[in-house]
Amino acid sequence: MQIVILKNAAEVAAYGADIFEKQLNRKAESVLGLATGSTPVALYQNLIEKNRCGDISFKDAVTFNLDEYLGLEGTHPQSYRFFMNEQLFNHVDINKDHTHVPPGNAKNPVEACQEYEAQIAAAGGIDVQLLGIGRNGHIGFNEPSSGLTSRTRVKTLTKETIDDNARFFSADEYQPHLSITMGIGTILDAKKVVLLATGENKAEAVKATVEGPLTASCPASALQLHRDAVIVIDEAAASKLDNIEFYKHIEAENQKLQAHLASL
Ligand code: PGA
Repeated sequence: MQIVILKNAAEVAAYGADIFEKQLNRKAESVLGLATGSTPVALYQNLIEKNRCGDISFKDAVTFNLDEYLGLEGTHPQSYRFFMNEQLFNHVDINKDHTHVPPGNAKNPVEACQEYEAQIAAAGGIDVQLLGIGRNGHIGFNEPSSGLTSRTRVKTLTKETIDDNARFFSADEYQPHLSITMGIGTILDAKKVVLLATGENKAEAVKATVEGPLTASCPASALQLHRDAVIVIDEAAASKLDNIEFYKHIEAENQKLQAHLASL
């Protein structure tokens, strides 16, 4: 894993956005794996700005989101389809027909999961997958105990996740307890994975991901198996790591190597 420790959330968002900029400029028809939650919002704002300035285009890009609440229509303000339209798709030059979010209104959710996997495969697989992380170490809605090779499927949310997300629902509003989520195996198939985490309340989950054992109890620890996983965190989210100085040293060496390679 590449561990990048930055000063604050703004730097984390900018670093993550640069990865997507490079990807889109290398391959216009990139297949991007996207995420919801509060953490990616600032990264999406960076991408919207880069698109506005003409630095990147989504014209030929294809996207697949990690997950969706089961039981919500895409027009529901708390659905992840609605979130993606509001936070990114409505503001960039993407063809909405090329954007995929698992169907929260699927009549047959089991078939819908298989179909989602087939669509990802037909698109040629995901080039870069963006991830947030839950306080319990979940990625997508792969809660602790999720199979480390799991595929897109229906998952039940933990009480912790439901409580964390309750802030988005009004008191009398139906809050789903089920989701469709890419599996951990689906995520590990992405060619590159970028996990963003900011704030003290993610520090335990980040420590378990980076320095803990590989375990289904912390689904994000599965990224230890990925050959190109980048963990981009701010000082607060890094605060419980044992080897902070070592990770900073490696990253400084990485930067030097990249500069050398660019000069060749
Ligand atoms: P957050 O959620 O970005 O809103 O903290 C992350 C997640 O649950 O994956």
